[in-house]
Amino acid sequence: MADETTQIGPVILLGPPGAGKGTQARNIVERYGIPQISTGDLLRDHVARGTALGLEAKAIMARGELVPDKLMYGIVADRLRAPDCRRGFVLDGFPRTAAQAGWLNAFLGKELFDNSGPCAPLVLQLVVDYGGLLLRLTGRRSCPTCGRLYNIYLQPPRVDELCDVDGTPLIFRDDDREEVIQGRISAYERQTKPLVEYFREQGRLVPVNADRELPQVTAEIFGVIDDHRKKCELAAMKTGSAPRQSN
Ligand code: AP5
Repeated sequence: MADETTQIGPVILLGPPGAGKGTQARNIVERYGIPQISTGDLLRDHVARGTALGLEAKAIMARGELVPDKLMYGIVADRLRAPDCRRGFVLDGFPRTAAQAGWLNAFLGKELFDNSGPCAPLVLQLVVDYGGLLLRLTGRRSCPTCGRLYNIYLQPPRVDELCDVDGTPLIFRDDDREEVIQGRISAYERQTKPLVEYFREQGRLVPVNADRELPQVTAEIFGVIDDHRKKCELAAMKTGSAPRQSN
């Protein structure tokens, strides 16, 4: 794990449903000791608790559509203001629209991190062929206790439908049904994919081929984050300032 004082900064994972954002976010958490902020998990938690947001989001998520932007800002802002985000965080599933990207840019600049230059957020685009996504999504299972992800076809647990770590019965996500998946991919194409160009123009985008074996994808991601961190530290040394973080 990285030194607990090292600044990592914001890391944004961009990619269609099933690209491996959640899987890679968990690997980043383990190596760099920064939190994963999954807006899908935050929303599913609201749905499970039956909050006002959860009640509103439930049917939208079941259809594979995006929850309206204005409902997202409060939960993301609250989470990013938590003390564990000060060294950095990995955003999994946010931003997902042009409006969310603009909001995040303004929020980070105002409240958290330098938003330009070598310490700007790093955006990792997980590039996959859509042909393999159906197997990844319909085969996905997760552990409700520890959050570990499996795939009954590609990364099966040692014992059928049970978590290797704690033996908990694995669960299947409601929106991983075949009839919902196409809607989720269409929402990505229409509303999220334009962000690839947005981040590329800002010079923040690093494409990663995520159609390879998991360890290869993870190794490339770690390499990119390590390089980014070094550039940020070097720039801070040159200017004699520490990379900015919230207080
Ligand atoms: P969310 O939970 O974010 O789902 P998603 O973006 O559709 O992404 P997934 O979690 O399905 O896939 P992933 O890329 O994380 O892949 P994973 O690592 O699990 O969002 C759900 C819903 O919430 C949305 O539809 C929307 O309604 C709402 N929502 C969320 N955020 C929102 C926002 N910002 N605005 C509005 N609405 C929002 O991997 C998938 C499977 O593939 C696993 O089984 C894994 O084991 C396997 N796998 C991963 N990598 C590999 C590999 N390299 N090789 C083989 N198998 C692999």
